Amino acid sequence: MFQALHETVEYIKRKTENFEPEIGIVLGTGLGGLVNEIEVAYSLMYSNIPNFPISTLEFHSGKLIFGTLNGKKVIAMQGRLHYYEGYSMQQITFPIRAMKALGVHCLFVSNAAGSLNSNFKKGDLMIINDHINLQPESPLRGHNDADMGPRFPDMSQPYSRRLIDIAMRIAVDEKIKCHQGVYVSVTGPNLETKAEYNYLRIIGGDAVGMSTVPEVIVANHMHIPVFAISVLTDEGFPEVLSPVSLEEILETARKAEPEMTKILSQLISTL
Ligand code: HPA
Repeated sequence: MFQALHETVEYIKRKTENFEPEIGIVLGTGLGGLVNEIEVAYSLMYSNIPNFPISTLEFHSGKLIFGTLNGKKVIAMQGRLHYYEGYSMQQITFPIRAMKALGVHCLFVSNAAGSLNSNFKKGDLMIINDHINLQPESPLRGHNDADMGPRFPDMSQPYSRRLIDIAMRIAVDEKIKCHQGVYVSVTGPNLETKAEYNYLRIIGGDAVGMSTVPEVIVANHMHIPVFAISVLTDEGFPEVLSPVSLEEILETARKAEPEMTKILSQLISTL
């Protein structure tokens, strides 16, 4: 991987005239709008970057954006990669490794997720304060390069407590309803059955989704502080579960996006 990473980073540096991002951002399903707040300096298609996996989803545009957000130099993934698309965990998290090699020292992640907690309604935001990984493998499986991180990274606080506290204060000031909770990651791409939603709730989940945890594990492996936030796009309440479509998920994400963008953008300006 070291050789591939070197090649990728050299390409990106060449194409962006050595742009040095401080903050990495991964934008989830229906949540690409934060990009509109970025003063874009460079934009690279995943398909042109050596060793970068290509997003196979038509609603994920697959671009790496470089620019300035509230005075901070950022790199943003518009369109993330999921395990269900067929990539390995190492491929999904390769861009996070590249971000670190480019100089990123803080990672922001957003996603769309289903609510499991009956107090958390469709359209609400949830800051992730812990996770349960139900995806079938860790991105750290296999050879460990000690230059990248430890063999057995600590996971006692994978989401920065400091960033969560600042974000909660921003939410209160802006009168944005924002919960905190545990995100369970599953493989997908199917949504859950009633019995599965019930199980995920019983094991301690507040929200369920198909992403985020691999990126968070790799960021922790490299000692990068993480902030992650979910837009709750549907309610996985087993008692009253009704069918949900991708269109509804995208529509709900779109509606909640301005509030999420406000929190992320203000949070970044405090760093
Ligand atoms: N389950 C899994 N992933 C999701 C959901 C869900 O209900 N909603 C959005 N992503």
